[in-house]
Amino acid sequence: MRTLKEITPEEAASYVSNGMTVGFSGFTPAGAAKVVPKAIAAKAREEHQFGRDFKIGVITGASTGDSLDGELARADAVAWRTPYQSNKYLRGNINLGKTKFFDMHLSVLPQNLRYGFLGEVDVAVIEASEVQPDGKIILSTSVGATPTICNIAEKVIIEVNEFHSNSVHGMHDIYEPLDPPMRRPIQLSTCSGRIGTEYLQIDPNKIVGIVRTNLPDENGGFKEPDELTNKIGENVATFLAGELHSGRIPHSFLPIQSGVGNIANAVLGAIGANPDIPAFEMYSEVIQDSVVKLMEAGHIRFASATSLTLSPELLTHVYNNLDFFKPRFLLRPQEISNHPELVRRLGIISINTAIEVDIFGNVNSTHVMGKEMMNGIGGSGDFTRNAFISIFTCPSIAKGGKISAIVPLVSHTDHSEHSVQVLITEQGIADLRGKSPEGRARSIIEHCVHPSYKADLEKYFTAVTANRGHTPQTLADAFSMHQRFMETGDMRSNPA
Ligand code: COA
Repeated sequence: MRTLKEITPEEAASYVSNGMTVGFSGFTPAGAAKVVPKAIAAKAREEHQFGRDFKIGVITGASTGDSLDGELARADAVAWRTPYQSNKYLRGNINLGKTKFFDMHLSVLPQNLRYGFLGEVDVAVIEASEVQPDGKIILSTSVGATPTICNIAEKVIIEVNEFHSNSVHGMHDIYEPLDPPMRRPIQLSTCSGRIGTEYLQIDPNKIVGIVRTNLPDENGGFKEPDELTNKIGENVATFLAGELHSGRIPHSFLPIQSGVGNIANAVLGAIGANPDIPAFEMYSEVIQDSVVKLMEAGHIRFASATSLTLSPELLTHVYNNLDFFKPRFLLRPQEISNHPELVRRLGIISINTAIEVDIFGNVNSTHVMGKEMMNGIGGSGDFTRNAFISIFTCPSIAKGGKISAIVPLVSHTDHSEHSVQVLITEQGIADLRGKSPEGRARSIIEHCVHPSYKADLEKYFTAVTANRGHTPQTLADAFSMHQRFMETGDMRSNPA
């Protein structure tokens, strides 16, 4: 019988050469490869010491852990990277132009790979909890783009992480759609439906070796919710309760998608705690800490996502209580967790976080001052564009009040006014549905802007409405707040 060869991380790294494209598992630090990327980074450093070039193209599901994005970035080993990242060292290299980053909607990454839009994948380096000699793989805490990466890669290296052994078995639903013109409807009409297999099947001849590990995911945990994030969350819950009361959201409620990060984690917690919101299901991208707590309290009935991104203590808690959690979690490929067809069919309520929003409802999720990449668009566009109701949240101010999150014109656009239906800050709720640009501006300024910026934005809007036009704007002044920040370090016209 065939056996899989056990190799060291260094032997695994020997399969990776300068100029190659490597596809790694990982969607957030959950399920990310951990020891082979470090060995590749060490190889890069050694090559650089000898004056030789060593840089690779890196494809993952989304962001990963520090052992992958951080190590490779610190070794200056990443020539290009897609589709999402959140590592400070990699972000630094991207903003210095040392790493070419292209940001894309996460649902389209797998099909873009299959269509050949991103070229060949030379080596796949993935984490699994189990692998069988016939090529059946049980993944770990994320699915992401791993099925597609493995299927198209020439060689596959598998980190078999015993930390997850037996715990996650049965939590995955692996399914890859056919490509056009053979694509068929995805036969999923509930959050908990299954359409695939619990294992990923790959060609065993491509597996060049397995590396044994026993390591937790490198999730850092979340900031504790505070007064500000709780207020945003309460406002979201108030809005949703109103929609429920009006009958626009059915009384059985609809599945929720909640974005990534501290704010999304806190917002979800506040929704769950609201007695007017019935127990709900999630059809989302990431299962964060707040989901576990809400599930145990009976506020969340089921969660479908592509990754289980929990702080280490909470993942251990889940693993110690699998009888409760296993029937309530399902991990799917990101192509399915974020699929526009399913988001629209299931009637998802999307809740994502903005960096900056303009008075007309255009949202910037990715860039600071129009040029510095933060993380990437992630799945926010997959959900927002197709949601039953699309909501964006953010604190009305950033950096201690020196920045207003609401500006006359966004410095970069990820989600246009056509897709953004509701904006919620700690100040209040702007319901943009059925409103003209002028109506949207009045609503956002009245309900969402921080008091320290209200007069400035009202003054701007009064001046530009004199110019008329469908969307009143004065291009020469539209970035005056940004300009002021870059000149003085403060967007306010009258800082205290
Ligand atoms: N100008 C400058 N910096 C800003 C800013 C603005 N208008 N708004 C926020 N920031 C900074 C914050 O100060 C913070 O900086 P720090 O790390 O130095 O403290 C950083 O952005 C993150 O903000 P934080 O308030 O901690 O929010 P978060 O952790 O919830 O992240 C996003 C917010 C927008 C960065 C994050 O949600 C994201 O990357 N979104 C895009 C992808 C996405 O939506 N995915 C979900 C799809 S399922």
